Amino acid sequence: VAAEEPLNLRPDEFRRLGHAVVDRLAEHLAGLDGLPPVAPLDPEWSAAAIPPCPDGPSDPDAALAFLFGEVLPRGQLGNHPRFFSRIPGPANPLSVLADLAGAGVNVFAGSWTGGAGVSALELAVLDWLRGWMGLPGSAEGVLVSGGSEGTLTALAAASQARVDDRRAATAYISEHTHAAVGRAWRVLGFEPAHLRVLRADPAHRLSVAAVEAALALDREAGLEPFCVVGTAGNTSTGAVDPLADLAVLCAREGLWFHVDGAYGGPARLTERGREALTGIERADSLVLDPHKWLFQPYEIGAVLLREPRLLERTFSLEGGVYLRDTGDGVVEFRDRSPLLTRGSRALKLWLSLQVFGLDAFRAAIAHGIALAEHAEALLRERGGWEVVSPATLAIVCFRRAGHDDEQTDAMVRATVADGYAAPSTTVLGDRTVARLCTINPRTTHADILGTIERLERFAGC
Ligand SMILES: Cc1ncc(COP(=O)(O)O)c(C=O)c1O
Repeated sequence: VAAEEPLNLRPDEFRRLGHAVVDRLAEHLAGLDGLPPVAPLDPEWSAAAIPPCPDGPSDPDAALAFLFGEVLPRGQLGNHPRFFSRIPGPANPLSVLADLAGAGVNVFAGSWTGGAGVSALELAVLDWLRGWMGLPGSAEGVLVSGGSEGTLTALAAASQARVDDRRAATAYISEHTHAAVGRAWRVLGFEPAHLRVLRADPAHRLSVAAVEAALALDREAGLEPFCVVGTAGNTSTGAVDPLADLAVLCAREGLWFHVDGAYGGPARLTERGREALTGIERADSLVLDPHKWLFQPYEIGAVLLREPRLLERTFSLEGGVYLRDTGDGVVEFRDRSPLLTRGSRALKLWLSLQVFGLDAFRAAIAHGIALAEHAEALLRERGGWEVVSPATLAIVCFRRAGHDDEQTDAMVRATVADGYAAPSTTVLGDRTVARLCTINPRTTHADILGTIERLERFAGC
């Protein structure tokens, strides 16, 4: 590219290449249905396939062709209507454009001086999230990269607020709590053995009685219980821990109530989800993941804290003399998470909500819940299937009657390799089960039927 300025593109060339990228993306998104949801692994592909860094310029069209032809197709397509694995990422295309706009301007959302516009937008969307989750108007938050960083951020704030002796600090989770909680616990310097992983009840929920029993033992042993983590939609089954009862327990015992709503939180936007998530509004800290069930491209998570100013007390960036020309704004987001320089994750959430409207999001979430119920009904109707965990917040777990773990793994592996649909597996009560997570608003009943037919074929029947 013959640019007049170093490391720049002429406006006409920027436009041409930009259009080429958008054209390719439009084609990709329109053609998703014809692609396998997970590309087969290519044993030949590794970093050695990336050409060495050139000293001089090279052809941008060739580089884009390499990117779109060789790099981007290798992996899973979380957007695909038949990608049902783990938690899909059914992103909407408007948010893609918002990410582009943010990168194009290179917005700075770390300080008010650096980005009053995007900081105000972030405050606004955080307040929308807060309201949808039923937290009080005084609650505050910050957008982060996802559920893992959100969990780390929330537990750092919780420990700032409540922990005296880190070595004695103790918390309670269930066997189905996401592994991000255990990682955050370790990284924050707590004793791994003091994270009590309690056996779930038969509906895969954290048992209040189990927390109470462990709490009594730990207090007797001189430990300092300080936190209970409730999950609003666990990753394996979609089951919601008894949030209201856990909130009562935490209030009574003076414990911090953290809720992991990374997966299921947005379901509160629907009538049925609101009922299922009763108690989420009593969280002291809450994590949401808009890159899951709010249809955003990676990476966007959100942390909400009931106690005002606690994020600042935990993350305030003190003493940087080079920052003295900024500050005194309405909010300094650099003081609410470990990041100083940060782009704007609010842009995409705002643009998609602004243009599609909240009702479209509500309907899309309700569609996902109904699809899993449809899948469960089909499995029951067709026979030969054992529904191990009924459809709950858009996840259904099942197994071919009479099959063992190995056969279940083989069935799911063969189905994914076939290229029509991508279910995944998990383990419930020591048994491997197949699962479908049906949160893509573009998934149809025909997609569900076709997937179950493939599973039956690869189950060997
Ligand atoms: C319930 C739950 N919590 C936390 C996470 C971690 O979120 P992330 O992958 O965005 O870091 C996930 C991811 O699937 C999840 O399902």
